Amino acid sequence: MSDNEKILSGKTALVSGAAQGLGRALGERLAQAGADVALLDLQAGEVAAAASEIATSCGVRTIGLAADVTDEEQVRAAFDKALGEFDKLDIVVSNAGILISGAITEFEAAKWRKVIEVNLIGYMIVAKYAAKAMIPRGEGVIVQINSKSGKTGSHKNSAYAASKFGGIGLTQSLALELAEHNIRVNAICPGNLLDSPLWVDSLYAQYAKRWGKTEEEVRQMYIDKVPLKRGCTYDDVADALLFLCSDHASYITGQALNVDGGQTMH
Ligand SMILES: NC(=O)c1ccc[n+]([C@@H]2O[C@H](COP(=O)([O-])OP(=O)(O)OC[C@H]3O[C@@H](n4cnc5c(N)ncnc54)[C@H](O)[C@@H]3O)[C@@H](O)[C@H]2O)c1
Repeated sequence: MSDNEKILSGKTALVSGAAQGLGRALGERLAQAGADVALLDLQAGEVAAAASEIATSCGVRTIGLAADVTDEEQVRAAFDKALGEFDKLDIVVSNAGILISGAITEFEAAKWRKVIEVNLIGYMIVAKYAAKAMIPRGEGVIVQINSKSGKTGSHKNSAYAASKFGGIGLTQSLALELAEHNIRVNAICPGNLLDSPLWVDSLYAQYAKRWGKTEEEVRQMYIDKVPLKRGCTYDDVADALLFLCSDHASYITGQALNVDGGQTMH
C-alpha cells in the first residue's frame, strides 16, 4: 500500500472481539491505513499474538488487551491501558459478538440473556468508555459491527436478532447524544461472511445436518439468497469501515449501513 492510501495515519483505534475473524481483519485494515491499533478480546493469548503480527506486518504501534466486554471493570482497565499507550482514541469499533440460535420453545433464558449481554450490553459498555475518552477532545468515531439480522428477523435466531435490533437503537441514540461533541456513531450491517470461522467451523455442519444437505449445498443456498450472488468478505466490511472512519463521512451519523450484496434494502 502506498503512503497515499494511509488515510488514517496519525489516528488511533480500538477494536473489540479482535483475536480472530472479522475483528482481527478490521484491526489489520485500520493498521494498513496507518492507524495505531488496540485489539481487545476475551482470548488473551490469541489477541496478544494478533497484535504483534499486525505490528510486524503493518509497521504501526499495536497493543493486545485481554478483557470481557460484559465486565465494565475489565473494559475500563483496558481503555486505561490503551489510552496510557496511545494518549487518545480516535476510532472505536464494537465488533465482539456471539451467536446462539434455537427454537423459542427450547431456548434457555440464560442463553438468550447471554447473547443480549455480549452483543448489546457489551456494545453499551465499550461505547461508554469510547465516549469518555472522546468527549474531552471533542472528536471521535464509534462504529458498531451489527448484522443484517439487526434489520430483519432471523429464523430460530431470536436472541441474536433482538440483540442486533437493540444495537441499532443504541447507535441512533448515541449519535443524538454525542453529536454536540463532534462524535459520530454508526453501525455496519454485514451479510453472511461465508468464509468466516463461524460458518466454516460451525454453521455449515449444523445446517447440513438439520436440512439433510451437503455443506457445499448449504453454502450455495446462502449465496443464492444474495442479489450480487456471493458471500460478504472481510474486505467488504473493512471498506465500509474505512469510509465511515474517514472525513469523507463527516456528515454521516446515526446510520446502519447495509453491506450485504443487496439482501436488505431498508
Ligand atoms: N460471521 C458472520 O457471518 C457475521 C455476519 C454479520 C455480522 N457478524 C458480526 O461480526 C462480528 C464478528 O463476528 P465473527 O464472525 O468474526 O465472530 P468470531 O466468533 O469469529 O469472533 C468474535 C470474537 O469476539 C470475541 N468475543 C466474544 N465474546 C466476547 C466478550 N464477551 N468479550 C470480548 N471478546 C469477546 C471472541 O473471542 C472472538 O475473538 C459479530 O458482532 C457478529 O455478530 C458476523
